[in-house]
Amino acid sequence: DPVWVVIPAAGRGSRFGGDIPKQYLEVAGRPLIAHALEVLLSHPRVAGAVVALAADDTRWPNWESLWGKPVLRCHGGSERADSVLAALQALPAGVADTALVLVHDAARPNLRLGDIDRLIAAADAHADGAILAAPVRDTLKRADAQGDIAATEPREGLWRALTPQAFRRGALAAALERARADGVVVTDEAMAMERTGLRPRLVEGREDNIKVTTPADLALVEFLLGKASQ
Ligand code: CTP
Ligand code: MG
Repeated sequence: DPVWVVIPAAGRGSRFGGDIPKQYLEVAGRPLIAHALEVLLSHPRVAGAVVALAADDTRWPNWESLWGKPVLRCHGGSERADSVLAALQALPAGVADTALVLVHDAARPNLRLGDIDRLIAAADAHADGAILAAPVRDTLKRADAQGDIAATEPREGLWRALTPQAFRRGALAAALERARADGVVVTDEAMAMERTGLRPRLVEGREDNIKVTTPADLALVEFLLGKASQ
């Protein structure tokens, strides 16, 4: 069955700073969002994408298709979850409630086809969906109010959530709507699903699938994408 892609790209990049929203910064000759869209739409299971843009966005290059597949757009909202929900509502009418949707950050350009393959396979097999994630590698410290170490937390069983995250369209929309109605800001899609009692599967993904949050991250993806294109 065809899979659709949703790209929330309506953020302001406040932690990154600067004049250009980070999803439009150019690396290896293309904006970050273009890297993400290219690889996702090149996957044979993917039928098309919806991109959620800020209402005052002036930089979207007006792509209407990529790899011969439609790229639709909609207005995002004030929180990431609002942008994802708007994009789900902008999917073509023919997309089934049970169709898989891959939600992927616009600012996460170094995604590889192998990770998309394994994520889709896990989500096909698991009713509650699946997400790419990486095990925590560092030792975790809890701080007290002065910034001194209060405790060392066990890291066993802890994962960092990455994207894409893959869920059935109807179940994800219902979970995001419920979080909104409850006044809870969810920081990823899986969190909305978990709140409704579902248990998405963790799929170990590549650690170099990093999100550009600060300028230091940009230097890293410059290195990674430069290497990949050689
Ligand atoms: N995003 C969105 N709509 C929002 C907020 C975020 O579509 N209201 C998108 C961002 O454009 C980005 C992804 O969600 O592609 C991940 O969010 P994040 O890394 O937090 O990006 P920003 O919100 O832009 O950055 P910051 O939090 O530093 O302002
Ligand atoms: Mg943000």
